[in-house]
Amino acid sequence: MADRIAQIAGQLNYPKGLLSGQVAIITGAAQGIGAEIARLFANEGAKVVISDIDAAKSKEVADKINSGGGKALAVPGDLLKDEYIKELIKRAADFGQGKIHIIVNNAGFTWDGVIHKMTDKQWDTMIALHGTVPFKLVREAAPYFRIKDGEPRNIINISSTSGLHGNAGQINYSMAKAGVVGLSKTIAKEWGPSFGVRANTIAFGHIETRLTANKELGAFVEVDGQKVALGIPGQQKQAAGPVPYLDIPLRRPGTATEAASAVLAIASPLSSYISGQTISVTGGRNM
Ligand SMILES: NC(=O)c1ccc[n+]([C@@H]2O[C@H](COP(=O)([O-])OP(=O)(O)OC[C@H]3O[C@@H](n4cnc5c(N)ncnc54)[C@H](O)[C@@H]3O)[C@@H](O)[C@H]2O)c1
Repeated sequence: MADRIAQIAGQLNYPKGLLSGQVAIITGAAQGIGAEIARLFANEGAKVVISDIDAAKSKEVADKINSGGGKALAVPGDLLKDEYIKELIKRAADFGQGKIHIIVNNAGFTWDGVIHKMTDKQWDTMIALHGTVPFKLVREAAPYFRIKDGEPRNIINISSTSGLHGNAGQINYSMAKAGVVGLSKTIAKEWGPSFGVRANTIAFGHIETRLTANKELGAFVEVDGQKVALGIPGQQKQAAGPVPYLDIPLRRPGTATEAASAVLAIASPLSSYISGQTISVTGGRNM
């Protein structure tokens, strides 16, 4: 399979990897799916910009890629801060010697609650991080995408089955993750015709990261000093019934590498005629 991909890549004149010479910003790349996207992109010759609020883990990911012969730059910061968005685009463009080819809007977490108990803070934070941040990042990067230099340009927004189908307890997250579907389609329609920019949405199902690990493991994020616990309560997982993952035809969750591979597939020239689409990476869930 790898040989076949390498052969196709060769035919497409990308001799040093599917993303050779491209500069990619990946948000939320300090761990989980984003870190895998960064690793796979770097393996395919991209210069990757690791954007994440966790500075220590961002540096670790970048160091590992650089020591393995790839090219990575950690630009840590909080995407909810407008100054950071400006800094990120500026530093990415400097790193890319004036070019940015790919943005993967992947950063995020969940802050669940039933509708009647959901606070404004929970609502506003999810809409801001999963909806407004991708828009602001793309707007800030416009000068690097609205150009005609014959090189590929690609925006990938990460969604979720919760966005496409709804999910009890996630009205805030579902709303924001549904929103990026329209965001991708609008970018595809506005920047496709003159500049050849492709924009797609990838919606994940159950992928094994700290977001889907047992809540009891204690992972959390802080929002304005408030601790938000991450994960799914073990009890809720057990209540799913005797057959594990009955709702998933492949009967298992996906790995971060499998999720990231789908992002690489869409970013690569093998998908050069795919734009404005929403691709579900779910092991068949929600057919
Ligand atoms: N894991 C799943 O099952 C699943 C399913 C559907 C969608 N998703 C989506 O995939 C994406 C990646 O999630 P993951 O499972 O890898 O989670 P993760 O927690 O492993 O990684 C998310 C990263 O985003 C970063 N981040 C969060 N808030 C940030 C902020 N304000 N500024 C900068 N960085 C910030 C975190 O520090 C973290 O490193 C998210 O958008 C998530 O909603 C995940």
